[in-house]
Amino acid sequence: MRQPAGRIGITGGSGFIGSCVADRMTTAGSDVVALDTRPPQRSDVAYRHVDVLDLAEVVQATRDLDAVFHLAGVSDASDALARPVSAVQVNVAGTANVFEASRRNDVRRTVLASTAWVYAGAHGDAPIDEEAPFHLPSAGHIYTSSKITEELIAHNYCELYGTPFTILRYGDVYGPGMSENFVIPRFVRQALGGETNTVNGDGSQFRNYVYVDDLADAHLAALSGDAENEVFNLKGPEPITIRRIAEEVRGLLGAPFRGRHRGCRRPASPARERRPGRRRCRTTACRDSSGR
Ligand SMILES: NC(=O)c1ccc[n+]([C@@H]2O[C@H](COP(=O)([O-])OP(=O)(O)OC[C@H]3O[C@@H](n4cnc5c(N)ncnc54)[C@H](O)[C@@H]3O)[C@@H](O)[C@H]2O)c1
Repeated sequence: MRQPAGRIGITGGSGFIGSCVADRMTTAGSDVVALDTRPPQRSDVAYRHVDVLDLAEVVQATRDLDAVFHLAGVSDASDALARPVSAVQVNVAGTANVFEASRRNDVRRTVLASTAWVYAGAHGDAPIDEEAPFHLPSAGHIYTSSKITEELIAHNYCELYGTPFTILRYGDVYGPGMSENFVIPRFVRQALGGETNTVNGDGSQFRNYVYVDDLADAHLAALSGDAENEVFNLKGPEPITIRRIAEEVRGLLGAPFRGRHRGCRRPASPARERRPGRRRCRTTACRDSSGR
């Protein structure tokens, strides 16, 4: 694999995924600087206080960088649902500022953290690959719309100004430091507290989880020449059902779980009910459970 660029900035470098990317790049021999509004968890990681909404600050902070990983933003769909305007401002204007700074500073690669949620409205039964078209009316969530717009900005800066990019569409990422709101830490926390875990419905809802260290490895690969101006889906290979997670937690910690069948209720986050490929995946899950 090609050696990574020498000096790398990571917007959102103090966050869950950004911290792991910082570790991976440091191990690979790069000089890494976290560009964030809060300091990194590790005191040995270089840090510049940067608000991606402040163009002058971003330009100044990326002046001497060879590559920028842009991960800063509103990453929790529930937060975006609660404060849509602010989510759009940080994600969209923040991304425009990062690409503008890369343009002015001749940064050799700007890697954008996108999401597999961009396929939320994908039609048909064909496997979803990087070429699958988006269906904008079904994007389904302000978070998704903001990430689709981020991708458009990356393409625009390449086409209009020749700014090189790589887009990484993450699946559901898990690992140490992930948000406590997500199902894996929630089940573990409840199990350790002696509580019974609750699985909605029959628990056949699934996600293609990707481990955060594997995802960090992909960031190294994203700096290769082959990845220039390319888009990559980074989902886990295997659908993992909520029921299986509950069973694993029960096996490891002895915590029981129960199913909960609810009446028709508006979900707290519509996008949670409209994950990429979910319609197709649901069909698969049904076939599996009927003994295929
Ligand atoms: N976690 C996932 O499963 C997942 C899945 C798909 C895509 N993503 C994307 O990956 C990226 C990182 O996600 P994460 O889970 O590590 O999120 P995170 O919330 O842990 O980290 C985001 C970081 O961005 C920083 N930040 C927020 N606003 C900022 C601003 N205005 N200026 C500078 N820094 C700012 C925060 O301080 C935080 O450190 C996001 O772009 C998210 O949309 C995450």
